[in-house]
Amino acid sequence: MRVDGNFEKTVQTSSSIARKVKDVLRQTSSADPMLHSICGLLAQEVPYYDWVGFYLIDQDHEGQLVLGPYVGAPTEHVRIPIGKGICGQAAATGRVFLVPDVLLEENYLSCSPEVRSEIVVPIMRGEKVLGELDIDSHSIDPFDGWDRALLEAICEMVAPLI
Ligand code: SME
Repeated sequence: MRVDGNFEKTVQTSSSIARKVKDVLRQTSSADPMLHSICGLLAQEVPYYDWVGFYLIDQDHEGQLVLGPYVGAPTEHVRIPIGKGICGQAAATGRVFLVPDVLLEENYLSCSPEVRSEIVVPIMRGEKVLGELDIDSHSIDPFDGWDRALLEAICEMVAPLI
């Protein structure tokens, strides 16, 4: 178990967050407000989630990700070519990218010098990448299997609605 301030990474905290995400899915009918509420919920619940956002594959330009709903500082990276940066690599491979220290990652697009680590979890339909959930943290190496499992579960929940 890992502790950050008063926050504990436990099965209980993870189940509680997943339950709240399910409530959002039940209560909200259109995709953008729903995704935005999930960003707000995650940023509020997990103290080291400093920027939380969705990137979606642009249906008109399939080689690009386009920024969707997010919570946190505005980013210049509104469009990201597949393969570029951490987001582009996750989209290219359909795999989770967990970067403990962004200063050590060569293929990285910086949004702000405050960001020190990042996790990107693809949203899949079968083998196809629909988009991804991107989280930046101002802490070094805060993400582990707890985050990965929670975020993968959330991406599975939102996939049918994208
Ligand atoms: N750092 C990302 C770019 C998106 S921002 O984090 C919001 C990347 O390297 O792909």
